[in-house]
Amino acid sequence: MHISLDKQVALVTGASSGLGAAAARGLAEAGAAVVINYNSQPEPAEALAEEIKANGGQAIAVAADVSKEEDVLQLFEATLQAFGRLDILVANSGLQRDAATVDMTLADWNKVLDVNLTGQFLCARSALRQFAAQGPCPDISRATGKIIHMSSVHQLIPWAGHANYAASKGGVDLLMRSIAQEVGEQKIRVNSIAPGAIATAINRKATEGDAAQALLKLIPYARIGEGVDVANAVVWLASDASDYVHGTTLFVDGGMSLYPGFKDNG
Ligand code: BGC
Repeated sequence: MHISLDKQVALVTGASSGLGAAAARGLAEAGAAVVINYNSQPEPAEALAEEIKANGGQAIAVAADVSKEEDVLQLFEATLQAFGRLDILVANSGLQRDAATVDMTLADWNKVLDVNLTGQFLCARSALRQFAAQGPCPDISRATGKIIHMSSVHQLIPWAGHANYAASKGGVDLLMRSIAQEVGEQKIRVNSIAPGAIATAINRKATEGDAAQALLKLIPYARIGEGVDVANAVVWLASDASDYVHGTTLFVDGGMSLYPGFKDNG
């Protein structure tokens, strides 16, 4: 199986760090021109664009808050201005604002839903409009366009102390599947990736030191994930190698969603 994303343009939201940055790198290595979206950190986003260009790839960094409609429209405009088309959207931006539900502020509830769910809707909507405007281009890809939603094992696993986050990811699952049902006929492929515990800034506390030992008990495959584990899945889902995969969630979680607490009990 040879994977090439040559001539394709990918937009990755929330790509200045973590899974987004790993995905942008992977897509660029596979030959795609990459738009690195960031919200508040221009320096790492620009540095990643420079790194990709130094390795012979094409990349630009573009600011946008994915929860704001006007920002998202401008982000897609900037993508077209730079590279003339769009083939792949990785709707990755996400954040946590953790609290027991009894103490959770409405602001923290809204912030997480706005970025993790509304942001994915706004970006998917713009991508669908662009794919429809472009139409099929079989020389570039069998699919007219590809959308990859970054979900989480918590679209499935309830998470005490993180009701806003789990609700947002549960929402992403039905958002993705509803869109997939809607646009399959247009040969637009829509899928999700559900990462488990991947060592990134979002969960540094849980993946380092003593906490890491406790976390490993939740991972049957007995290692904490790395960004590249998710990036490889993104590249595959973006490529024609997965052309018959549509409307599904790929769990990249070392088995976390196998409910390992039931191994010796239940
Ligand atoms: C969260 C991480 C967490 C992981 C597994 C992810 O979606 O962002 O903080 O470690 O799920 O629980």
